[in-house]
Amino acid sequence: MKRLHIASIPADGIGPEVISVGIEIVQAVCERNTNIDLEFTHFDWGSDYYRLHGVMMPADGLETLKKFDAIYFGAVGAPDVPDHVTLWGLRLPICQGFDQYANVRPTKIIPGIDSPLRNAEPGDLDWVIVRENSEGEYSGNGGRTHRGMPEEVGTEVAIFTRVGVTRIMRYAFRLAQSRPRKYLTVVTKSNAQRHGMVMWDEIAEQVAAEFPDVTWDKMLVDAMTVRMTLQPDSLDTIVATNLHADILSDLAGALAGSIGVAPTANIDPEGRFPSMFEPIHGSAFDITGKGIANPVATFWTGAQMLDHLGLNDEANRLIAAIEKVCADGILTPDVGGNATTRQVTDAVLDAIRQMNA
Ligand code: NAI
Ligand code: MG
Repeated sequence: MKRLHIASIPADGIGPEVISVGIEIVQAVCERNTNIDLEFTHFDWGSDYYRLHGVMMPADGLETLKKFDAIYFGAVGAPDVPDHVTLWGLRLPICQGFDQYANVRPTKIIPGIDSPLRNAEPGDLDWVIVRENSEGEYSGNGGRTHRGMPEEVGTEVAIFTRVGVTRIMRYAFRLAQSRPRKYLTVVTKSNAQRHGMVMWDEIAEQVAAEFPDVTWDKMLVDAMTVRMTLQPDSLDTIVATNLHADILSDLAGALAGSIGVAPTANIDPEGRFPSMFEPIHGSAFDITGKGIANPVATFWTGAQMLDHLGLNDEANRLIAAIEKVCADGILTPDVGGNATTRQVTDAVLDAIRQMNA
């Protein structure tokens, strides 16, 4: 029997509500496989920890996480702690410290969930967005001088390196190659940003030569929002910078019905460090404690985690169980239903146990 060690960091807001049921689902789908045993270890890091200790996680937090096979993460953010403190105190140090440079965000219209797009049906929107996750606009490069003075300056420097851009392009082309359409769209803004983004385009072109069987095209990020909305079926795999993909993937989640169903995987493709799996949404203060958070994004990222750990059959069964429950109309309020987190979870557990039987 192989034991896999998973660190769970539920953190803030609805994070604990969705991660606790996510663990139930991930465990249930693995029950049938007697060759593996998943062991979850919980960490109470986040805003409560910050209020007690003045930091979001202990100084040796990364050292502690390093030995795990994967990280299952909820959300960070609290009304009384500044967002840059929570994000830079916990989530980004893990992404950057473990060089999880590929952020993979699948989005599709799940049967049973209505897209706000009038004519879009399941199958018309089935994308994977690959977000560069280590540099670009979120590299943390920049500063503030003359604080509080009239002449105060703030800079936020977007960093693009040949190494960073090449590796994310290769990852995206390889992912596009593995999907039936073998089609990649490279998002850019090289008309206005004439340094980093022009290099981005050049490297895309160079890497494309390594993948002659992948068809690819290029879109300016502003025009991309129009294409995503008006011609969703014209897209398949998408690669974009840290900032661009951050924004586009929220749009993708909304177009697929709700941000509550959109998952994300922060991957170290070289496997040097644990990768981290989380829903795209934040801590959602407005619904915290109400028991109505949509757990589907957290289940789906659980499937991404199983897939990453080589448990492809388990991942596929987990997705099939989610799809069955959504198609049956057992939905939380954000996607037009009136079920609670618990009711959706129980329905997914039932679907898994029927498949396991
Ligand atoms: P949010 O994603 O928390 O919420 C946006 C809206 O979507 C809210 O109306 C919320 O109720 C709804 N929503 C989100 N997830 C849902 C779910 N699973 N089921 C049903 N409805 C859901 O984004 P917001 O409000 O901008 O940020 C709240 C806090 O979360 C902030 O502190 C922010 O910094 C943090 N945040 C953290 C992220 C992370 O940890 N990865 C990502 C985004 C935001
Ligand atoms: Mg975001």
